[in-house]
Amino acid sequence: MNLNRFFFPTTLFWGEGSTENLEEFINSKNVAIVIGKGSIKKNETFKKIISKLKKNFNVELIEGIGENPKISEVISVLNVVKDKNIKDVIAIGGGSVLDCAKAAITVINEDNPILSLKEKKVVKKSDINFIAIPTTCGTGSEADQYALITDESGDKFSFFTEDSYPGYSFLEPGFLETLPDKWVAGTAIDAFCHSLEGFFSIKSNDLTDVFAIKSMEYILENLGSSDRKDLKKLENLHLASALGGIVISHTGTNLIHAFGYYLTKIKNVPHSFSNSSLLPFYIRYISELSDEKIDFFLGFLTPSDDPYDFIVSFLKENDLPHHLRDVGLKEEEFDEFFNYGFSKPNISAFFKKVKKERIYKKLKEWFLE
Ligand SMILES: [Fe+2]
Repeated sequence: MNLNRFFFPTTLFWGEGSTENLEEFINSKNVAIVIGKGSIKKNETFKKIISKLKKNFNVELIEGIGENPKISEVISVLNVVKDKNIKDVIAIGGGSVLDCAKAAITVINEDNPILSLKEKKVVKKSDINFIAIPTTCGTGSEADQYALITDESGDKFSFFTEDSYPGYSFLEPGFLETLPDKWVAGTAIDAFCHSLEGFFSIKSNDLTDVFAIKSMEYILENLGSSDRKDLKKLENLHLASALGGIVISHTGTNLIHAFGYYLTKIKNVPHSFSNSSLLPFYIRYISELSDEKIDFFLGFLTPSDDPYDFIVSFLKENDLPHHLRDVGLKEEEFDEFFNYGFSKPNISAFFKKVKKERIYKKLKEWFLE
């Protein structure tokens, strides 16, 4: 039985200037800042935060976290934090940076942190204050318990516990000002897919539905023609991402993310673009099912246009892939792609029973169109 439940332990601050009082939420003198490869150092908001912190704290910069963080990167962050006796960690970056720091902090007191990561089992609670500052607007890592980590063989696994949420998250829109357009749009569509899949999840409830609809509304209203100087629009996109994170922290994802795994793992397609390339299919697939919740959603998406055409134009306007062809899937790869996706457990999280033959036929027809 699916019990109605809503749990969200992170304190969120959002909007321009939300990091102004960051210091009030730091408990000790030694602070670690975890970042990616370094491009963030040119961002004005980042410079402001660091120079302010350096006046009052001993700041240890842990840099170089790459895309799809590996277990070895998690352990190296953990070792620095432990060795320097740091009790406050601030991760500033996209999903990979946030995920890496989140995982490191959650297993920091474990005797065998690697095993704890793999088994998602933490016996000794973390005593670190973890603050997340996202610089993209899609992963939702700032507002959920998940960390996507890559193991020694190159496979990705999702690490999470009830205690792996950030303590605080600050959504400062200034970070989105310098993010390339395609990444603002791509990460926002990732957030859109989180909320969309969460809305049509077997685990959704009335509260997650409220967050999902608001998140998708923010994206539809603020992404197209997004003026990079309009901080209010960027703030809304940031908030949409966090809301999407809150949604999937309860519902997980389903069809889009399941079929997207092959594209990211085998074809090296960025996560955001694998989602956008499957989004039109999802809209068509639900449009052909009969259900009151679907009718409500399609009316919300577009009261007058054809929902499929609407979403394709929306993706085109934002220069995003809108078909599997756009991300390079070939006809001879289709069966392998399908079977890989269909084997994922999130297929069964879709709110209606997914019959293998039916979805294969629909997906292939659409692919060959
Ligand atoms: Fe995602």
